[in-house]
Amino acid sequence: MQRFYITTPIYYVNAKPHLGHAYTTIVADALARFHRAMGFETRFLTGTDEHGDKIVQAAGKNGEQPQEYTDRISGLFRDLWPELNISNDDFIRTTEPRHKKVVQAILQKVYDSGDIYFGEYGGHYCYGCERFYTEKELEDGLCPQHKVKPEFIQEKNYFFRMSRHQQWLIEHIKANPDFVRPERYRNEVLSLLESGALDDLCISRPKTRLTWGIELPFDTDYVTYVWFDALLNYVTALDWPDGENFGKFWPVAQHLVAKDILKPHAVFWPTMLRAAGFEPYRHLNVHGYWLVKDTKMSKSLGNVVEPLDMARHYGLDPFRYFLLREMHYGNDASFSEEALVARLNADLANDLGNLFNRVLSMTRKYFGGVVPAPQDEADWTDLDRDLKELALTSCANFQQLFGCVRFSYGLEALWELVRGLNKHVDASAPWTLFKQGDTARLGTVMYCLLECMRKVALHLWPVMPESSEKMLAQLGVGVEHGAVDSGRLAGEAETWGVLAPGTALSATSQLFPRVELEAAPGPDGTDGPGGAEAPAAAKDGRKDAKAAAPVEEAAKAEPAPEIEYEDFAKVDLRVGTVVAAEQHPKADRLIRMDIDCGEEGGPRQVVGGLAEHFAPEDLIGRQVVVVANLKPRKLRGLTSHGMVLAVRDGEAMRLLTPSEPVNPGRKVS
Ligand code: MSP
Repeated sequence: MQRFYITTPIYYVNAKPHLGHAYTTIVADALARFHRAMGFETRFLTGTDEHGDKIVQAAGKNGEQPQEYTDRISGLFRDLWPELNISNDDFIRTTEPRHKKVVQAILQKVYDSGDIYFGEYGGHYCYGCERFYTEKELEDGLCPQHKVKPEFIQEKNYFFRMSRHQQWLIEHIKANPDFVRPERYRNEVLSLLESGALDDLCISRPKTRLTWGIELPFDTDYVTYVWFDALLNYVTALDWPDGENFGKFWPVAQHLVAKDILKPHAVFWPTMLRAAGFEPYRHLNVHGYWLVKDTKMSKSLGNVVEPLDMARHYGLDPFRYFLLREMHYGNDASFSEEALVARLNADLANDLGNLFNRVLSMTRKYFGGVVPAPQDEADWTDLDRDLKELALTSCANFQQLFGCVRFSYGLEALWELVRGLNKHVDASAPWTLFKQGDTARLGTVMYCLLECMRKVALHLWPVMPESSEKMLAQLGVGVEHGAVDSGRLAGEAETWGVLAPGTALSATSQLFPRVELEAAPGPDGTDGPGGAEAPAAAKDGRKDAKAAAPVEEAAKAEPAPEIEYEDFAKVDLRVGTVVAAEQHPKADRLIRMDIDCGEEGGPRQVVGGLAEHFAPEDLIGRQVVVVANLKPRKLRGLTSHGMVLAVRDGEAMRLLTPSEPVNPGRKVS
C-alpha cells in the first residue's frame, strides 16, 4: 500500500494562532485528506514547540511559569484545529516525556558517532531567532529578521559538525530536484550551501543562561538548542526507534513550512538526520507569506487576521477554498476580505453554486429528480464526448497538481470542468430538447452533467470536506456509500459512469450563497490590481464578481461608442516575444516581463496582472501583442513600458498572439 506522511511546523507557543498558522495547517489537512481519498495510508502530524528563551520571556511577560504558560497556549492551538476541520492523527508537544526521550537518545547517538564536539564560540546572538549570526549574515549590524542589534556572546558550548555533511547535502539536492520545492527555494538553498563553508551548529545553551530545555545526556550543565530539539519532533511522533510507524512512514515524510524556516529545515535537519543515521525526508514543501497590505502579519503591527473570525463569517469551507485557491504555493499572497468576497462570489456562488442549482432543478423538472439513463456512447454527440474528455483530463490534472503542492493550479484545472459544465448547459440547451420531446438525448445531456458534478464534488473533498459531502448527498451518492477518505478518488480520472441511473437527487442546492463585505473597503482597502494598478489583463474580474459571470453574459455587454480610424491608428500595437518573466516582488498578481519588440535598446519591461493565470515560466518564449506607445507608468515600484493584450474567457485569461510566429516588432494593424 502507498503511504504518505505530512507534517506542519510545530508552532511556537509565544503567541496565539493566526492566519499564517491556520494556512499551513489547512494545507496539510487538504494534502492528508487528498492522499487518504487516493487510497494512501496516511499520517498527519502537527503540534507545538515549547522550549527556549522566547517562551520563557513570553511566560514572564504574562506573569506565568513556563509550564503553565505553554499548557495554556498549546491548548489554544489544539482547540483551534477541530474548529477548522483539521484531521491530524497526532498533536505533539516538545515538553512531553516521549519527545525528551527521543531527543536525548539521538543526541547521544550523534555524540557517540563523533559529530558533536565541545568548543568555545563567540557570536552575535539574536534572542528573537534564538540563534547565533555570523558577521556576514547581519544586515547593517542588525538581525535580518528582527532588525535588532544582536548581543555578542562568548561561551563554551557543544557543536554539531554540520560542515562535515555539506558536500553530501549539495549532492543530494542536485540528485533529487524536488527534495526542496518549489524550485526557487531549492535554488536558494543550493546557493547558500555553495556560497561558502557551512558553519558548525551550536546545539547547546549553558544552564546558567537558560534552563527551559531538554538536558544534554552527556553534560547536565547544558540544555539543548531549541531547533535541535524541535526538528526531532517529526521522528518522535513516529515512535522512533521501535514503533511500527517509523518504518512505515519515515521513508515517505514530507514537511510543510513557510520560507521563514527554510534554513533549519533544508540545512540543519537533513544534516542532523544523516549524522543520526536516518534517511533524509522525501520533500520539503516551502510556501510564501500571507501579507496584509503588503506587510507580513505581526502582532505588533496589529494586522493579524483571526482565522476563526473569517471561518465563522464566511463559512469554514469557503475560507479553506479561498486560502488554497488564492495563494500560488511558494509565492507570497495578499489577504483581504475584498479578495475573499470576490473569489467566493465568482468561483463558489456563480460558477459552482449556480451549476448545482441549475442542473438539479432541471433534473427535477425533466426527470422527476431521478438520474436519467444516458444513451449508448455510440449515439453521443461531439459535445458529450468533449465533455467526458474534459472531465477526465481535469480530474487527472487536479490529481497530479494537487499531489505536488500546486493547489491553486489544481483547483483551476477543476474549475475548467466547472465552467465547462456551465457552458455545456448553455450549448446543449436541455430546455429545447425537453420542448422537442427528445428524451433520449436529454437523458444523455443530464446524465453527463450529473456524472461530472459527482466528480467535481469528490475532488473538492480535501479542500471543502463538509460541502463536498453535502454535494455528494444531493447527487444521491452520500457518504453512506463509503467514506470519501478511503480511496474514493483513486481511479476517478479514468472511470466513467459511476452515478447509477435511477438514483434520487435533491430537488435544489443552496450551498454557496453570495457573500457581502461587512463594511465598505477603506481607501487603501484593496490590495490587488484595479485602477492605476491594472494594465490590460489586470482588469481582473475577481474584484468584480460580475466579470466572472458566464461568458454569454459578458458577450452581450454594450458595445463601446464608435471611434474614427485616426483614433484607432494612434494606438501602436506590436508583436513582441517574452524573453524573461518573473513574479513582481511586491505584488502577487503582477508579473514583470522583458519583451523583445525588435527595438534597438533591447527588450522593454512590461508589468501585467497575469500572475493569477500564468506562471512566469509559462510566458517565456510566447509571442504577445503589446500596446507599445502607452505612457509608461509605475506598478508597485516597477515601470511598465506598455501593456500586453489579453482576453478574459469566463474566469480564464487568454493571451492575444499571432497565428504563426512573426518577427518581433511587427506592427499589428
Ligand atoms: N517553532 C518553529 C518551527 C519549528 S518546526 C520544527 C516556528 N514556529 S512559528 O510559530 O513561528 O511558525 C512559523 C510557521 O507558521 C511558518 O513557517 C508558517 O508555516 C506559519 N506562518 C506564520 N506566519 C505566516 C504568514 N504570515 N504566512 C504564511 N505562513 C506563516 O517557526
